[in-house]
Formats: sequence, structure tokens, C-alpha cells
Amino acid sequence: MTLRWFTLVGAVAAAAVGVLGVVSTTAADRPTPKPSEQSLRALGARHGLSVGTAVDMQALDDAADPRYSSLVASQFSTVTAENVMKWALLEPTRGTYDWTAADKLIDFARKNNQRVRGHVLVWQNQLPKWLTDGVAGGTIGKDELRGLLQKHVTDVVTHFKGKIWQWDVVNEGLSDPWDTPNEIHYKGFWNEQLGPGHVADAFRWARAADRDVLLFYNDYNIEAFGDGGPKDKVQFLYNEVNKLISQGVPIDGIGSQGHLGTQYGNYDALQVADTIQRFTDLGLAYAFTEVDVRSQMTPAVKSGNSAEMNPRLQASAANFSALLQGCLASRHCLSFTFWGFTDKHSWIPTWDFGTGKGAEGMATLYDESYQPKRALNTLKADLLYAGPPNVQPRIAHKPRRDLPAR
Ligand code: G3I
Repeated sequence: MTLRWFTLVGAVAAAAVGVLGVVSTTAADRPTPKPSEQSLRALGARHGLSVGTAVDMQALDDAADPRYSSLVASQFSTVTAENVMKWALLEPTRGTYDWTAADKLIDFARKNNQRVRGHVLVWQNQLPKWLTDGVAGGTIGKDELRGLLQKHVTDVVTHFKGKIWQWDVVNEGLSDPWDTPNEIHYKGFWNEQLGPGHVADAFRWARAADRDVLLFYNDYNIEAFGDGGPKDKVQFLYNEVNKLISQGVPIDGIGSQGHLGTQYGNYDALQVADTIQRFTDLGLAYAFTEVDVRSQMTPAVKSGNSAEMNPRLQASAANFSALLQGCLASRHCLSFTFWGFTDKHSWIPTWDFGTGKGAEGMATLYDESYQPKRALNTLKADLLYAGPPNVQPRIAHKPRRDLPAR
């Protein structure tokens, strides 16, 4: 090797070290956070997917429980009022609205750069007593009731105009296969009082009050099609929504609540993806709106027996993941919302599913002490390791308006 050649090799090597040195310094300046330390909202943003939670306003306000509000702010890009936008809470006295708690949530969302899902305009539960008593006692007749519903939808949508991304316009209007008769049908207070036409009316009233908000039909047990027969709730919904669209009703999306339980068979990601695609092929957006996965709380689970806890924690992670992967597969699946994120504030233990309150629980991503469960990292991994060509950014949906009937 000549001296000149040696000098050249040395210079190239020195330059390479220099370059590598610069690269490694830059990388060191911007350390990549560990996957487990990245937030759900940041990981969802890689796909344009909003990741949300229902918010319990009492917990959000509780100064003794600061972890709650800090996790709502840091982990989620969308919030839903768990209760405070429901009719009973907005208008406890006829003619007098109380927007205080709902406006507080809107304000929190604005400060934390979050979008808001509006929940809920037309539902048979959490109606004001003055309204249900009036109907039961015969002092509110059908015409007046229809006028009251129109006023409610109009007033609420108008109040929150420009502040809500998606409204759950009609919620849980359909029966289940275990109801009588077991052929799927419209059910509940509003159907009994006003008939199924109230569904199209509600969407038209909501659209008239806000041209820019996305309008959703929201329900549970609609994660995947069944046999396509008269007991298949998803097929019934599909047929009805198809009719609404052909009548020019301004419905923009389907909200699938996603209340699952580890004791059930549930669905896999591809069944979920197929179902989403059938609805989005109608031109609709899609959202998971109330996801949680509950488990039976046997005495052994309650005492913390790991042999009973572990299968539940793993099944829970798998079920959350099936819904998220199904959602990621569709560019029209715009948001994925959990119905609460900690067992400390979850509706599940407060509910009697048939064997008493407290018989089911463990339904969320964090336990009662805010310790993350297996499901949280499973979902982060789904968001982290998904990408093109199978997972693409979301497609923004425009509100349907001024549509002629097909
Ligand atoms: O705030 C009062 C409190 O003052 C009172 O002492 C206490 C006594 O029962 O009740 C409290 O209100 C409860 C409220 O939750 C707030 O905790 C109501 O009784 C209770 O019925 C209400 O339950 C809510 C439920 O909807 C009502 O059907 C749950 O929090 C809420 O998570 C749940 O959410 C629904 C969605 O809107 C629609 N899809 C199903 C989902 C789960 O049921």
C-alpha cells in the first residue's frame, strides 16, 4: 500500500466516522420513545385514527384523582360524554336546560386538542322524568311528544354546533335475537310512541340544525353479520340503513358500540373488517363507539387468583384487538372509542347483567389502580406495527346533505 493510498483510505474512514458520529448524535438528540411509552392517541394519529374514551365528569373533576384527567388528556384524541349530554341531564326540568357539565367537557377537549363525539340525541334510557311521567299519565300526547323530540334534537345540536365531530343521533333502536318476538324489529319508547319513522325524522332534524356534523346510528351487538336471516340484527340494520339512504335521509355513519365479554365467542378481526366494509360500501363512515370487554368475576378472580385472572386478561386483549384490527383495515373507520379506560370508573360493575351487580368487571385497559393491563400494549402493538399496504390513512367523510332520494 502506498502512502497516498493509505492516506486516502484513512481520510475516507475518518469522514465515515465523522458522518456516523453526526448521525448518532442527532439520533441521540431525538430518542425514539419506547413503544410502550407512546400514547394511544399518538399511535392512532399515524393512521389518522382518533382514539377516544367516554368521560365520567365527576371523575374528571375530582381533584383527589388527578390520574384520571391526565390519562384522558394524554392518551385520547376524542372524548364522549358518558352521561352528561343525555336528555335527563340536559333538561331535568321542562324548558330549563343545564349545559354546565357538557360545556365543561367541550372546554376540556378544546384545551387538549381533542374532538368530541356527541352522545346521545334519541334514546329510550335516561329520559327526563317529566317527559316519561307525562307520557305515562296521558298529559303528553303523541303530537306533543313528536314536537318535544324535534325541539330536543334541534336545541341540543344547535347548542353544540361547531363543537361536535360526530353525533349519535339514534341509539339502540333495535331488538336483539333474545327478545320476543326473536325476529329483529324496532323497539323501545320512541318506536312505541312515534313508530319507526322517528328515526328518519331525527336525522333530518339534526342535519337541519348543523350542516357540518357527522350523523351516526349507534347500537350494540352489531360487530359482525350473522346468518343473514330474520334474527340477524346486523342484517336488519343493514337493510334499514340502505332504505334510509335511498330515501335521502342524511345518515353519515354507523357506530358499533363494541361491548364484548370474554365469556362469549365474539368475533375475529376479519369478520369485523368484512362487516365494516359492507356498511362503508354504502358510502357510510364507521366508528367503534363504546368498546369494553368484561369478564365474569368469580370468587377466585375477586381474590386475585392468577390462574383465573390470566386467561381473562389474555382473552380481553384478543377481543379488543379484533375490533381495532378490523377498524384499522377500513379507511372509513374514523374513530375507536373505549367506554371508559379504568376499572375504577367503569359502568360494568354497577350493572346487573342477570346475576347481580358486581358479577362482571375487569372491562377496561387499566385496573382500579391505573395499572395498565395486557390489552393496552396489545392495542399499542396493533397501532404500531400496522401500515401500508393493508392499513392506510383514514378518508375524511363529508356530511350528507341536500341529497335526493335514490
Ligand atoms: O349520578 C347519580 C347519582 O347521583 C345517584 O346517587 C346514583 C344512584 O343510582 O345514580 C347516579 O346516576 C347513575 C349514572 O349512570 C351516573 O353514574 C345512574 O343511576 C345510572 O343509571 C347511569 O348509568 C349509565 C347508563 O348508561 C344508563 O343506562 C352509565 O353510567 C353509562 O355508562 C351507560 O352508558 C350506556 C350508553 O349511554 C349507551 N350504550 C350502553 C352504555 C352502557 O350501558
